[in-house]
Amino acid sequence: MIDPFGRAISYLRVSVTDRCDLRCVYCMSEDMNFLPKPELLTLEELERLCGAFIRLGTDKIRITGGEPLVRRDVMTLFRGLGSRIGNGLRELTLTSNGTQLTRYAQDLYAAGVRRVNVSLDTLDPALFSSITRWGKMEKTLEGIYAAKDAGLAIKINAVALKGVNEDGLDDMVAWCGEHGFDLCLIETMPLGEIDGHRADQYLPLSQVRARLRRSWTLEETEYRTGGPARYFTVAQTGGRIGFITPMTHNFCESCNRVRLTCTGTLYMCLGQDDAADFRPLLRSGASDDELDAAIHAAIARKPKGHDFIIDRRENAPSVSRHMSVTGG
Ligand code: 5AD
Ligand code: SF4
Repeated sequence: MIDPFGRAISYLRVSVTDRCDLRCVYCMSEDMNFLPKPELLTLEELERLCGAFIRLGTDKIRITGGEPLVRRDVMTLFRGLGSRIGNGLRELTLTSNGTQLTRYAQDLYAAGVRRVNVSLDTLDPALFSSITRWGKMEKTLEGIYAAKDAGLAIKINAVALKGVNEDGLDDMVAWCGEHGFDLCLIETMPLGEIDGHRADQYLPLSQVRARLRRSWTLEETEYRTGGPARYFTVAQTGGRIGFITPMTHNFCESCNRVRLTCTGTLYMCLGQDDAADFRPLLRSGASDDELDAAIHAAIARKPKGHDFIIDRRENAPSVSRHMSVTGG
């Protein structure tokens, strides 16, 4: 599938639930209204839709959320999609907050998953609880170690928050190096209403990188995952560190992805509102050909890029959906 700007779209991210067992301050407000269950696609419907994308050339699928592992029976979907690896699909991955990984790591590996991204913004237990509002760091760490033991490669995602976790990022570089985890730092993006002010949270990664350079030698690399991150090697640990800078750099030129929500809505861009709703098609008994045609029509509308801004005076998000809806 080639979009209007010549980009090959080969990567689908699927948010299987907007729910989460944490409430990270940059992601959600404390009392969230989640989608009513009947609006959700069933796992069978999701699998069929993913199958259509695979048929049309998607070779990588990432399962996200919300927290994907809180969706009941989600392993059925992993097993179903996992059976397509080597048969259209090249890679099946997930993004998780780690709280359920102790339980699921081995099953994920058995289903064909080889890599997992785990969100962890700090190694300070008290700060972890305050960022996630009600999480326990121990549980996430146990999940991460279980995933490592199960043979999964791990990338830690940390959102850089001004005055919150910035002092602990050196420790995270050291810890990731010690365990052989990649680290990816992310700037906060203005997605959805949260309780605080985005502008107060926003920390440009250019500053973070300059500060890390006081303790670490960061060597530029050509390593790319097709995503927006720019990667460096930390000379002292041999570990890899990526920087995702949606606010300070536009990363859209090489975008290869689209995002499907748990209600069957396809967003062609994380930072734009245009979307295509597949649920009516699925529920009215559309044929595979009709599904394929609808997917092609959606890809033909993929926009050039996002236009995120963080406005100091107005706290309104650029995009009203939370990351947990579109999928991180
Ligand atoms: N801005 C940046 N990152 C976010 N995440 C969730 N919400 C936001 C936001 N508004 C992160 C999570 C997770 C990843 C998928 O996205 O921490 O690591
Ligand atoms: Fe949950 Fe991830 Fe959002 Fe945190 S960032 S509330 S773990 S979906």
